[in-house]
Amino acid sequence: MASDVLPQKNEEYGTKEYWDQRYTQESDGASFDWFKKYDEVAPFIREAIPDKNARILMLGCGNSTLSEDMYDDGYKNITNIDYSNVVIEQMKRKHQTTRPEMEWLEMDIRDLKFEDASFDVAIDKGTMDAMMTAKGDVWDPPQQVIDDCTKEVDEVLRVLRKDEGLFLYLTFGQPHFRRRFLIRDDTTLEIKRIGEAFHYYFYIVRT
Ligand SMILES: C[S@@+](CC[C@H](N)C(=O)[O-])C[C@H]1O[C@@H](n2cnc3c(N)ncnc32)[C@H](O)[C@@H]1O
Repeated sequence: MASDVLPQKNEEYGTKEYWDQRYTQESDGASFDWFKKYDEVAPFIREAIPDKNARILMLGCGNSTLSEDMYDDGYKNITNIDYSNVVIEQMKRKHQTTRPEMEWLEMDIRDLKFEDASFDVAIDKGTMDAMMTAKGDVWDPPQQVIDDCTKEVDEVLRVLRKDEGLFLYLTFGQPHFRRRFLIRDDTTLEIKRIGEAFHYYFYIVRT
């Protein structure tokens, strides 16, 4: 990643302007993956999503290779969304001929434009994290962070199929800081820790 696309302040990761500028500066066809690439998480994904025809929503896709790698592994039914139209247009250009079944839409994860119960699986890799970079006490997050993360999870649970839906969230965020957003009365939460020296977490919410 080029240093000129790093933000001056961590909280810029929480703004659309930062992401638009970053993707504008990166060359068309560039890719960058937060935390992990598909080959490192594939065993978890294949175990969690045994049905290759599952309808999958990728939340804040960025220019990660996760969707294309999953597509090439047989998961053809992926809808990718990001609020940066810059990256959505780049990804459309990059994949529309070679991976025609994948969709790319400009959309905010806090305000999904999909029908209720229309996806089997939703995946977030590092996107909720970007909304958690606001300045403040990580032990007692600002109200804006609480509202943004709650809206994302509300929307995800709304568009997932009832009783069979799966929300997979991959992050470096430790359970103490993430669990509060993922626990609901009518869902279950499983947490897997990946890695040795530096840990990542797979949060698996089932409807
Ligand atoms: C840390 S990057 C992760 C990108 C990708 N998921 C990956 O694993 O490499 C966060 C991405 O989420 C997008 N994003 C942040 N907040 C969003 C929101 N409220 N709605 C939609 N996309 C958002 C950003 O534009 C950026 O592409």
